[in-house]
Amino acid sequence: MTTTTRIVLAERPVGEPKDSDFRVETVDLPEPGPGEALLETLYLSLDPYMRGRMSAAKSYAKPVEIGQAMVGATVSRVLESTDDTVAVGDVVLGYGGWQTHSVESTSYLRVLNPDALPVTTALGVLGMPGFTAYAGMHNIGQPKAGETVVVAAATGPVGSMVGQLARLAGARAVGIAGGAAKVAMLTDEFGFDAAIDHRADDFAEQLAAATPDGIDVYFENVGGKVFDTVLPRMNLYGRIPVCGLVSGYNATALPDGPDRMGMLMGRILTSSLLVRGFIQSEFAPTQMATFLSDIGTAVANGSIRYREDIVDGFDQTIDAFRGLLTGRNVGKLIVRVAG
Ligand SMILES: NC(=O)c1ccc[n+]([C@@H]2O[C@H](COP(=O)([O-])OP(=O)(O)OC[C@H]3O[C@@H](n4cnc5c(N)ncnc54)[C@H](OP(=O)(O)O)[C@@H]3O)[C@@H](O)[C@H]2O)c1
Repeated sequence: MTTTTRIVLAERPVGEPKDSDFRVETVDLPEPGPGEALLETLYLSLDPYMRGRMSAAKSYAKPVEIGQAMVGATVSRVLESTDDTVAVGDVVLGYGGWQTHSVESTSYLRVLNPDALPVTTALGVLGMPGFTAYAGMHNIGQPKAGETVVVAAATGPVGSMVGQLARLAGARAVGIAGGAAKVAMLTDEFGFDAAIDHRADDFAEQLAAATPDGIDVYFENVGGKVFDTVLPRMNLYGRIPVCGLVSGYNATALPDGPDRMGMLMGRILTSSLLVRGFIQSEFAPTQMATFLSDIGTAVANGSIRYREDIVDGFDQTIDAFRGLLTGRNVGKLIVRVAG
C-alpha cells in the first residue's frame, strides 16, 4: 500500500489564503485499477487560477470541495502502471494536485522526454500557461507588424510568452511588471521593446512614454489600476484578450471609487474595441498540437526564452502560492516535491 501526503482545503479563504485554510494529511492510496498508474510527484505547478478553485463562487470550473486535495498540474514518475501506454520509470505530465503521490487515469497523462528539454517546461513555457498566451494572441490579439502590444505580469509564463509572440509578429512589445529587477528582466532577458513598473508613482506617465502611438493589443492579465491606465490609450479597433485579473483574486470587495462601467462601455463603443474573455481549454483540442510543435522548436533552439522559479520542498507549497498573488515569484512558479 502506498501513502500520499496531501494538502486539502480546510476552509474557503477570505482574502489572502492562510495556513489554517489548509490541512496536511497522509492517507492510503488505492491500488491502480485498469487504465490507471501510480505516480510519484516530482514537480507541482502553482497557478493563479487555483485561488478561484478555493472559492465557492460560480466559475468556469467546479470549486475544490472542503476536505478535497487542491488540484494542479504535476510532473511525475510512474511507479506502477496497468496500461502499456505508460511504463514504470516514465516521466509524465498529469494532474495529480497538491500531493506527493497520486493514482491517475493514463488517458490524461503525456509522456515527456527528459533528454529533449527540462521536464518542468511542460508546466510553464510548453504547458498550460505558454499555451494560454499563444491561444489568446493567435485567436484574439492577432498583433500585426508595427502595432503596439501591452501586457502585465510580464515576467510570468503567460506574459513573457505574450511579449515574445508580439515581437515575432513584428509588433512593439511593452511589458509591465512590479519592481526594478523584473522590469530590467523584460528588456534584457525577454526582448521587450520597453518595460515599466506598475508600482511606480509615475506609472501613467511611463506608460504614455512607452506607447507613443497608443495601444493596439492589451493582453489583460491583471485588471485593477493597470487596466484603468491602459484603457484610455487603446487605439481604434484595439483588441483586449481578457485572460486573467490577478490583482483582484484575493479581493473581498469591489474597489473604491466611482462606478467606472459607463466609461468602460463608452470607450469600447467609441474606439470599436474587441474585448473577448477566454479560457485556454477552449482552444486546446484544436491548437495544442501545433503549439507544442512550433513553440517546442522555438524553445529548443533558444528563440523563445523562459524563466522558472522552482521552490524546494512540498512543505513550501502554501507559502509559495501566497507569493504568486503578490508578485514574489519571478517566472513560472513550480514546487520541487521530489527528485
Ligand atoms: N484564461 C486562461 O485560460 C488562463 C490560463 C492561465 C493563466 N491565466 C491568467 O494569466 C495571468 C498570468 O498568469 P501566470 O501564470 O503567468 O502568473 P504569473 O505572472 O507567474 O504570476 C502572477 C503575477 O501577477 C502579478 N500581479 C499580482 N498582483 C498584481 C497587481 N495588483 N497588479 C499587477 N500585477 C500583479 C505579479 O507580477 P508583478 O510582480 O510583475 O506585478 C505576479 O508575479 C493570471 O491572471 C492568470 O489567472 C489565464
